[in-house]
Amino acid sequence: MAPNALITGWGMYAPSRIMTNEDLTKLVDTSDEWIVSRTGIRERRIAADDETTTSLSVRCATDALAVAGLDPMELDLVIVATCSPDYPLPATSVTVATALGATRAAGFDLQAACSGFLYGIATGSSFISSGMYRNVLVIGVEVLSRFINWSDRNTCVLFGDGAGAVLLQASDQPGGLLGFNLFSDGTGYEGIIVPAGGSVCPASPQTSADAKHFIQMAGREVYKYATRQMADSAVDALRNAGLTVDDVDQFVFHQANLRIIENVQKQLEIPAEKLFVNIEKYGNTSAASVPMALVEAVAAGRVKPGDKVLMVAFGAGYTAGAAVVEWTADPNRAFLAPGEQTRLGQPRRSTAEPALAR
Ligand code: UT7
Repeated sequence: MAPNALITGWGMYAPSRIMTNEDLTKLVDTSDEWIVSRTGIRERRIAADDETTTSLSVRCATDALAVAGLDPMELDLVIVATCSPDYPLPATSVTVATALGATRAAGFDLQAACSGFLYGIATGSSFISSGMYRNVLVIGVEVLSRFINWSDRNTCVLFGDGAGAVLLQASDQPGGLLGFNLFSDGTGYEGIIVPAGGSVCPASPQTSADAKHFIQMAGREVYKYATRQMADSAVDALRNAGLTVDDVDQFVFHQANLRIIENVQKQLEIPAEKLFVNIEKYGNTSAASVPMALVEAVAAGRVKPGDKVLMVAFGAGYTAGAAVVEWTADPNRAFLAPGEQTRLGQPRRSTAEPALAR
């Protein structure tokens, strides 16, 4: 029988620098009232000048390995889902693996925007169920603050930096990934885009002067598509797992906008106590948003062994992804507080803030 890919380790990292809505009013014409009522975001984390996509990845990955008690040398593969890599070339996964001491591991980056972590879970699990690899680290990470036009109020109030990781390990025990959906539709490629720096519009002094290396977004169109597609992807992943919405114990959605989350919650008729939300603290951290929310949901005691967890995301492309997993690990192995680091092999008690009560 094909091995199952169980989540045996998890970790998150949020930079310590907090940028509040009030701080943003000094940069653009906006208000705390507008941002909170339209998005649910109150603050976001911004990487320090010496932090990078690799350094954030290493922080959360170190915790994930410590929770599982796995030596980095045992890693077979490191997948880094990001749209804000250290460099266009080479892949961030390679520097992450080296920094971790994962000298045996293969590594590649995965670009599916905000849906990247879900694509990573599906890809990593496939490597395990095929028998090719036994230990796969999947990281969702963004330093989006470096790709934001801080004078564009349509985008700068939305995004934040952060990282989350899970370790997938082969096991004969039941559990792990039960079903998934991966979706893409390139007709909407201009909906969220960094227009320059690629083959269509190479970097030049003019593209720099025109601020074309930053994220541009057609918010309203994206909003409409996201609410429809997230619900569709969720339902399809559940169908593939032979489950229904009622079978799910905890829903962990991409934290892009509280109104999108609540819209999908309504469509799927999800009770509030089953829906984890932390957007108020971190904003939209793209590929990092689902793993960060998952780790905080576990820390908040929302996930226990045997629970079915449905993760869903939507992003630029457009892309979407959903994965339903059966949780098998003891959540007490690690309660992680943002910004703290676990010493290898020494899981510790919680200092994490409880999630927003909903
Ligand atoms: O990660 C996945 C990808 N991203 C998303 O899922 C984002 C999806 N879209 C959204 O979340 C929402 O569309 C936004 C939060 C981006 C915008 O909310 P909205 O209710 O769709 O507002 P809007 O874009 O239709 O703008 C309404 C008004 C406009 O003014 P006028 O034209 O009505 O006078 C905007 O110029 O709000 C204005 N506005 C702002 N006002 C204050 C836009 N941004 C701001 C701002 N502060 N930061």
